[in-house]
Amino acid sequence: MKEFKVLFVVFIGLIITIGCKEQKTKQDVSNTVETKLSEEQLYRPNFHFTPKANWMNDPNGMFFYNGYYHLYFQYYPDGNVWGPMHWGHAISTDMVTWVEKPIALYPDEKGYIFSGSAVVDADNTSGFGKGGKIPTIAMFTYHNMDKEKNGDVNFQSQAIAYSLDEGLTWEKYADNPVIKNPNIKDFRDPKVVWDEVNEKWIMVLAAGQEIMFYSSKNLKDWELLSNFGENIGSHDGVWECPDLFAMQVEGTDEVKWVLIVSVGKGGYNMGSATQYFVGDFDGKNFTIDPDFKNELDTNNASWIDYGKDNYAGVTWSNIPDTDGRKLFIGWMSNWQYATKVPTEKWRSSMTVARELKLTKTNNKYQLKSVPVKEISNYISKTVKKNSINIEKGKQTLLTNKKLIDFKSLDIQFTIKNLKEDTYTFCFDNKSGDAIKFGLNNNEQFFFIDRMVSGNVSFSEEFAPKISKAPFTTTENELEVRLLLDKTSIEIFYNNGETVMTEIFFPKNPIEAFSVQSENFNIEIENLIINELNFN
Ligand code: FRU
Repeated sequence: MKEFKVLFVVFIGLIITIGCKEQKTKQDVSNTVETKLSEEQLYRPNFHFTPKANWMNDPNGMFFYNGYYHLYFQYYPDGNVWGPMHWGHAISTDMVTWVEKPIALYPDEKGYIFSGSAVVDADNTSGFGKGGKIPTIAMFTYHNMDKEKNGDVNFQSQAIAYSLDEGLTWEKYADNPVIKNPNIKDFRDPKVVWDEVNEKWIMVLAAGQEIMFYSSKNLKDWELLSNFGENIGSHDGVWECPDLFAMQVEGTDEVKWVLIVSVGKGGYNMGSATQYFVGDFDGKNFTIDPDFKNELDTNNASWIDYGKDNYAGVTWSNIPDTDGRKLFIGWMSNWQYATKVPTEKWRSSMTVARELKLTKTNNKYQLKSVPVKEISNYISKTVKKNSINIEKGKQTLLTNKKLIDFKSLDIQFTIKNLKEDTYTFCFDNKSGDAIKFGLNNNEQFFFIDRMVSGNVSFSEEFAPKISKAPFTTTENELEVRLLLDKTSIEIFYNNGETVMTEIFFPKNPIEAFSVQSENFNIEIENLIINELNFN
């Protein structure tokens, strides 16, 4: 645990006009150009995993074993755009700080190593275990470029590899592939789960715009069980990176199955996004719950995160029952612009690891997500304020760099007595770059606005307009939690009921946090600003 300081700060007199609203004059801006910060200093996140160098996309093969959380990832070690895929590897004892390890899986003559999963085969059902060593089995997609270039459709197949040293080194199975391609063009991203009830391995696979369910007793021989996905969910893009797991509905004995499906484009705010379905799985078929079906939005979908930068996320396997959490991580980017984001040395980071929770309120199932609790072990300083009254129409500073180091923050507050008004929160810097977010309670939506957040010109699809999420609660107050880490904001409203994750690239570090309402005076209660320290 880091040193823990609590500051109580008087906010009177902090009302100033800042760059969020008013553009600074040319003179102001030119005066602020000082020593140029390196890409590392300005853009490398402190607590979101990034590879030391080069390209990364989806999280893969996550499992927990002997005190370590393993995270593999789609990795191209020879360039900063997508290329021949490997599985990179990182480990962590708390899912917050990561140590990068040597590459785990290299492409070979059968193809590139696309996304997949890993399980700990404690009972040695696969027979790969030797000398009492418990094997870990990874299942991934081989993507054969030659076949693809040849115009064949059957260029993706499923394969396995095993590790006898807890995931550090891997041996590919000699009889790969274990599932050949049945003439389906997009046929990938196997996620294996242990079905306790039916005592067998279940695997979900994205196949075109459907999910295919398979089962196996030994992780080598797989039988097709069923398909799911026709006429349900968003179908604007190819389906990718599924996950399936059982969850207890919070506060009840009810168990439901959750199916996660990423969709390449057609998210709520366009581009890549991840949808989920709540239903039942009988060991063969997944059926969507009728109550859940009624809740789908106009895209016929339900989204795990409404921001533009949480894709291809799945859960960790082998979390001990004594822990019992469903732990999730996503890729914090979007295929619309991932290869163009303005970092050279590395490209992309992961989201913060999140705990998923399933709730049912007024017949409405919801998959909520909150940052893993381990993040609070890194709090190095806290600024608190019980109650702040904000005068309408005035940009009001909540804190600035004199009080807090803005590199990594975990902020919480409550808005009481919600008014029919727009609440705009703003992080900004001396160049006038601003990342804004909040609630439009006239039109009932949350938003993130990164249109003037710094470097936005690298892609027309990065910030053409604000991103939105529906605000549906009937409560009169709103709880807000957010994480800021140099180039990303992750906002969790009402304990993760609605989540928005987005990245941004300011020209200078963020140094102030402020708020403004338009037509009503507003109250912010229980503001807690935690500075996080990872040194
Ligand atoms: C999702 C995805 C997967 C695929 C991988 C390739 O982002 O397209 O479907 O396995 O990336 O890198």
